[in-house]
Amino acid sequence: MSVTPLDLGSWRTPVEPAPRLATALGLEPGDLLVKRDDLVGPGGGGNKVRKLEWTCAEAVAAGSDTLVTTGAAQSNHARLTAAAGARLGLRVVLVLGGEPPAEPRGNLLLDALFGAEVVWAGDVDAPGLQAAAERVATEAAADGARPYVVPFGGSTTVSVQGYTAAGRELAAQVPDLRHVAVALGSGGTMAGLVRALGPDKVLGVHCGAVPDAHAAVAHLLDGSAGPDPALRIRTDQVGAAYDRLAEPAWDAVLLAARTTGLVLEPTYTGRALAGLAAAVRDGEVVPGERTVLVHTGGLPGLFGHAEAVDRLAEAARAGRQER
Ligand SMILES: Cc1ncc(COP(=O)(O)O)c(C=O)c1O
Repeated sequence: MSVTPLDLGSWRTPVEPAPRLATALGLEPGDLLVKRDDLVGPGGGGNKVRKLEWTCAEAVAAGSDTLVTTGAAQSNHARLTAAAGARLGLRVVLVLGGEPPAEPRGNLLLDALFGAEVVWAGDVDAPGLQAAAERVATEAAADGARPYVVPFGGSTTVSVQGYTAAGRELAAQVPDLRHVAVALGSGGTMAGLVRALGPDKVLGVHCGAVPDAHAAVAHLLDGSAGPDPALRIRTDQVGAAYDRLAEPAWDAVLLAARTTGLVLEPTYTGRALAGLAAAVRDGEVVPGERTVLVHTGGLPGLFGHAEAVDRLAEAARAGRQER
């Protein structure tokens, strides 16, 4: 089905200089810009909004009245789907991995605020989660609803166009662009940027949300099953697991906050900045090259990350700096 994207955000998003962060990374003060895709759209904003403009357009064009999607408990995509559904007057059912937590926080509180229903799928892998979503959709249809299942992370070959447009927007804003660092979850954001800017400029930082980041991006780009060797993907920032605190990502969160007043979080944007820092250390990114970090949002995830909250709470109680 060919659709026209809905208008859920006010594009284009700003690019802001970050001279103190640039210097702390070992770049020249003017080298680094931050693309503020965290600022725009329903639900607090974030990269998923550009994709939801396409997936929700497909849902509306198909006459759907219910959005069903999947994610981890602290999924930003789930929260933004809940918010987009609220704006469009669609019922939203979120099928989340795991069990209901004793003390819901972060994104889960916002899911409730936007009026989404949540179905807990238990400890299942990605195909298991997708199967649970299909079951929920089938049951809803049997009850007379017209459900539309938004795939994991909102990434489809159609919704990738949201970040192709973002890539073109960025090229116009930063004509001498050399590197764009971006968090890689389900892969749609990186795939769209690569389509607009070419593989040579886009540095994806794998966050551990999918088993094979290379294959995920390649599949969204051209439907191929195998990885594309031209893609620049760092896989060194995952740490113990997707939902665990990786120390370099936490260092990056603290660095962005203390040099720039910029709020990142440990799961995605912290890993993206940690990957950029590692690329500077390796010489993959060198001083004098114009570099953009895409801020893809996710702020509520900071307050949903138990280890991060514990560390900040301990520092706050003691009245001292965390690190
Ligand atoms: C804050 C944030 N940044 C980046 C990503 C990664 O985007 P993508 O799934 O398109 O790779 C996500 C995905 O959930 C996210 O929530």
